[in-house]
Amino acid sequence: MTWMLTGGAGYIGAHIVRAFDAAGLPVVVLDDLSTGFRENVPADVPFVQASVDDSESVRAALREHGVTGVLHLAAKKSVAESVEKPLLYWDENVGGMRSLLQSCVDEGVDRVLFSSSAAVFGNPPVDFVTEETPVAPMSPYGETKLIGEWMLRDLAAATGLRWAALRYFNVAGTGAPELADRSVTNLVPMTFRALTAGDNPQLFGDDYDTRDGSCIRDYIHVVDLAEAHAAAAARLDEAPIGEVFNVGRGEGVTVTEVFATVREVTGIDFTVDVVGRRAGDPAAYFADATKIGKELGWTARLDLADMVRSAWDAWQQRD
Ligand SMILES: NC(=O)c1ccc[n+]([C@@H]2O[C@H](COP(=O)([O-])OP(=O)(O)OC[C@H]3O[C@@H](n4cnc5c(N)ncnc54)[C@H](O)[C@@H]3O)[C@@H](O)[C@H]2O)c1
Repeated sequence: MTWMLTGGAGYIGAHIVRAFDAAGLPVVVLDDLSTGFRENVPADVPFVQASVDDSESVRAALREHGVTGVLHLAAKKSVAESVEKPLLYWDENVGGMRSLLQSCVDEGVDRVLFSSSAAVFGNPPVDFVTEETPVAPMSPYGETKLIGEWMLRDLAAATGLRWAALRYFNVAGTGAPELADRSVTNLVPMTFRALTAGDNPQLFGDDYDTRDGSCIRDYIHVVDLAEAHAAAAARLDEAPIGEVFNVGRGEGVTVTEVFATVREVTGIDFTVDVVGRRAGDPAAYFADATKIGKELGWTARLDLADMVRSAWDAWQQRD
């Protein structure tokens, strides 16, 4: 029952490697190290440096390690970059996944777990988003994630593939300082960067129709998210599933509330610069995570303070 983790040397993948180990699920990591780090993967975990569209290397690794399931994380993940370079995202996220699925078919691997995203919803018509909420991605990135779900559904209909897709909401925190997200594109690290530079963090819009005027999102600790994958993989080893799941805390938090938590955790009292809204930022959405709780027995354990505290510890120890 070995799982191949594509993108296992990245921020989320590195946490999942540890969650699978804790759950007794053997893994092999396949990663091209384009944004990941070799040192994120423990030395005793088999590691293959290759791209998911290098069919020869992928197929050899599937065979050599007796892989029975693939967890596909490897992707490009910047919404803004995807708007500027849509073809790159179609190549990497859609083309890469198509090639990986072909390798799975060719090698008889019949379980795939997929990293999807709340970006598939775009600007949802309701705040509390269920798996039934209509999808309408607003970026090439979100589109590639939705297409990934569709590829799995179509392949399952044709071949009986067992699959599940997890739609992550806003991922934050770290399980260990050395595994922290180094990309600094999310709210918490962006706030730390501003504070470290002696600048005021920026608040993109304070006139939304929310309880304090700032945007509402659902933040999920990366350690909880990793455990959700272990639960899904273990279930896929027993049953077909064939479903998408929201992965969040089910709790909407405003940006102003995140800033308040940062003040508490860091002990730094700061003011924010209110700047204009960013194009395409929905006012509010957060996950209804009932389905994953019921069907996979997973619920988040860690809260926003845990996320900010772990990220702050890591930020202070960064190189
Ligand atoms: N971080 C988030 O907030 C978030 C939210 C929703 C979904 N996701 C999804 O989770 C997944 C992991 O994200 P992350 O935050 O860990 O990003 P990351 O950039 O840290 O990790 C991605 C990993 O994939 C590897 N990779 C990229 N292209 C590859 C290829 N062609 N072949 C082999 N390896 C390749 C990279 O080297 C890296 O190790 C992505 O699919 C992303 O879209 C992330």
